[in-house]
Amino acid sequence: KILILDFGSQVTQLIARRVREAHVYCEVHPCDVSSDWVRQFAADGHLKGIILSGSHASVYEVDDKAPEAVFELGVPVLGICYGMQTMANQLGGKVEGSHSREFGYAEVRAHGHTALLQGIADFTTTEGHGMLKVWMSHGDKVTALPPGFKVMASTAACPIAGMADEQRRYYAVQFHPEVTHTVQGTALLNRFVLDICAAQADWVMGSYIDEAVKKIREQVGDEEVILGLSGGVDSSVAAALIHRAIGNQLTCVFVDHGLLRLNEGDMVMEMFAGKLHANVVRVDAADLFLGKLAGVNEPEAKRKIIGGLFVDVFKEEAAKLKASGQAHKGATFLAQGTIYPDVIESGGKKAVTIKSHHNVGGLPEQLGLKLLEPLRDLFKDEVRELGIALGLPHAMVYRHPFPGPGLGVRILGEVKKEYADLLRRADAIFIEELRATVDPETGKNWYDLTSQAFAVFLPVKTVGVMGDGRTYDYVIALRAVQTTDFMTADSAELPYPLLKKVAARIINEVRGINRVTYDVSTKPPATIEWE
Ligand code: XMP
Repeated sequence: KILILDFGSQVTQLIARRVREAHVYCEVHPCDVSSDWVRQFAADGHLKGIILSGSHASVYEVDDKAPEAVFELGVPVLGICYGMQTMANQLGGKVEGSHSREFGYAEVRAHGHTALLQGIADFTTTEGHGMLKVWMSHGDKVTALPPGFKVMASTAACPIAGMADEQRRYYAVQFHPEVTHTVQGTALLNRFVLDICAAQADWVMGSYIDEAVKKIREQVGDEEVILGLSGGVDSSVAAALIHRAIGNQLTCVFVDHGLLRLNEGDMVMEMFAGKLHANVVRVDAADLFLGKLAGVNEPEAKRKIIGGLFVDVFKEEAAKLKASGQAHKGATFLAQGTIYPDVIESGGKKAVTIKSHHNVGGLPEQLGLKLLEPLRDLFKDEVRELGIALGLPHAMVYRHPFPGPGLGVRILGEVKKEYADLLRRADAIFIEELRATVDPETGKNWYDLTSQAFAVFLPVKTVGVMGDGRTYDYVIALRAVQTTDFMTADSAELPYPLLKKVAARIINEVRGINRVTYDVSTKPPATIEWE
């Protein structure tokens, strides 16, 4: 295993991600753990190397140091950015502040032949120097090498952009190999972890599950956990994982707000109550939600009502469970499917949650419950891989994202049951056809080729003609986008015959809809959802 000590950089988790992509087990811990803690961590004999992360701060602003034990264990150490500076400081070199900050793209020359950079280069200069295209972000820099070190890399602005003590296997770079802008970053980190540390590349989902199960059992002991199951990927995978760990000490509360997709509630129950034999309480709160939404048009007001009601219903169920003894002693933990992208590094060394699960934000404090977040360190694709390894169906794990307020933000203006019923059926037809239509070029179906696709209900009526009669019915807009981060998105160029087939089916099969349009706007300036 590899230990990553976090000095508070925004991108520390990316180091972990790169190490895991090399299938090496690693853990991220704050840099202020004690030397005893580090020795203890290494006591099982599996610690193969340590990486010191960057920091948001300067060595002059903070006096964070690596615990002394880091340099006593005899394992390879890689310092990155601040990690390099603290290594230099602690081992007898010198760090100075500089007037110019170096930020962004830089070309770094590799020096000598170090085990770390040997054979790794983006291009070679006419003088035969290996050059790396990297991403830099620093003000301070190392100005004198500690005893035993040699220069490993340099730029014009930063003569010691990398240093190495090959005897002790200490390496450090001023740039950030963990970000994708550093072209050879992955190669460099792989070289460190796999070759220099000789760590075992045996970290796969199966062993992750064993580890996570063990941790959950330790954390929960014989106490009980409740979890808000939404049917989305994250809460589903969290539920499956926690259920694997503690079985019926977990109770899932599934609040059906009446704004779910067609048959979604039944599918969730079938999977969790039926197949996994988990404790699932289904709360049918459709009337409550629709009642409170009556007469409300404004999107933010709708969101607030749905979010607030969700919390109320959940709290009520938690109290009922406690009273009924179904969760025998009453839950003391609230589990959430928070994943790494929901968590970012704060200014300090500790990650903070900026977006708890939308449905249950603020709940733990209100309920006086402790938090259990077993997916906190995982990226979305790892969560999916985990879901598959836990036996969840592919269709559930690779489902498009669905907003917490559900169809509430896909019915424009006032939400009515009649509208929700029409929208659900139109949406199901769209999704069914996307899944059924394969793109000959890629061999993939259009559901998998789009990041998010759904129907939107427009509460305006237009005139149509059907058979011999005139119709005066509502409009459905189709939306399908391609995106990697959901911050920007492009409308998907769906094949025209597919769009026409979906339109024809919706108009023929969903009485009450006589017109279908396709939304071709990009985000920005439009958003993905219409509200
Ligand atoms: P927009 O519409 O802002 O959506 O382009 C970006 C992504 O976020 C989803 N979304 C939400 N998810 N609660 C959620 O859990 C919400 O209130 C919410 N609003 C939008 C949206 O579906 C898209 O994937």
